[in-house]
Amino acid sequence: MTPPVTVTVTGAAGSIGYSLLFRTGAGQLLGSDTPVRLRLLEIPSAVRVAEGVAMELDDCAFPLLDSVDIFDDPRQAFEGANVGLLVGARPRGKGMERADLLQANGAIFAPQGRAINDAAADDVRILVVGNPANSNALIAASNAPDVPKERFSAMTRLDHNRAIAQLAKHAGVHQSQVRRMSIWGNHSTTQYPDVFHALAGDRTGAELAQDAAWLEHDFIPTVARRGAAIIEARGASSQASAADAAIDHVRDWFGGTPSGDWTSAAVWSTGHYGVPDGLMCSFPVTSDGKGWTVVDGLEHGPFSQARIDASIAELVEEREAVRALGLI
Ligand code: NAI
Repeated sequence: MTPPVTVTVTGAAGSIGYSLLFRTGAGQLLGSDTPVRLRLLEIPSAVRVAEGVAMELDDCAFPLLDSVDIFDDPRQAFEGANVGLLVGARPRGKGMERADLLQANGAIFAPQGRAINDAAADDVRILVVGNPANSNALIAASNAPDVPKERFSAMTRLDHNRAIAQLAKHAGVHQSQVRRMSIWGNHSTTQYPDVFHALAGDRTGAELAQDAAWLEHDFIPTVARRGAAIIEARGASSQASAADAAIDHVRDWFGGTPSGDWTSAAVWSTGHYGVPDGLMCSFPVTSDGKGWTVVDGLEHGPFSQARIDASIAELVEEREAVRALGLI
């Protein structure tokens, strides 16, 4: 048995939290020989709900769950954190402009960044799930100057998993047969799910992408707008699948990506593929268990490049807006 790992989860009383916490308690986040200490962060008005969730966690009597503590203060919640799952965020309200949304989230992610800087463990790794995820991760990372930027990532794993499922259906193979999917850019409708470097069974994504009508009018919009389709069908947003993607992201980050495959995550750009330095941009990435490495050397045709450029342009605009608000 390894020593306990401290995992701080924000937005613990929310929908995604309700899936994520139980799977974490069951040992699916960090593996079946790693005990977990949970530190939950909520806003004061939701602490009572978080207490109810903690009661249910107690009632599972998980062998790997060492402790559960609840806070409404980020500094306390991130004390000693080895892993931070930043799920709680401010949703876009009626009539809210992008600047209002970024400002409201800046008021959450800037103080959380400072708390991580001051209180988390030296080896802390942060996954931002709460939207707008890339910009929230940028804000948190920029407010944690002592934490290496590569320890922050934002989640595009749900988009990645959605793209795998769609390509598998199109190719008529099981989703376990799909490898090397890539999500580029922003976790928004401009994201670019790239099949050209993927493999589906014994066929290449490039071959399957020859069906241009499928690629342009089915695959790309289905992946990019899947969240809205789920809200329309369920009357509620993606909850279990988002929690599942967060588990996949952290499991691969700590446990390593399978050989011959990669995954997707938004990470701090250091200029790969011409993406400006310091943008939190989704790339295909591998992990050796210690950290993410961007997969280099993939070539894009004009179809892919135009879409990647559009998503990067959106990220640049968001960064300008965040900068203008004094959040970074
Ligand atoms: P939710 O509204 O059910 O829960 C959010 C929780 O965060 C609430 O309990 C709220 O009280 C809490 N919260 C708000 N401000 C907080 C703060 N300052 N500190 C701590 N907690 C705070 O939302 P849900 O469904 O759990 O989604 C959470 C976020 O994840 C949303 O921003 C959503 O858009 C995003 N999301 C991201 C995905 C991705 O692929 N990156 C996929 C699906 C959702």
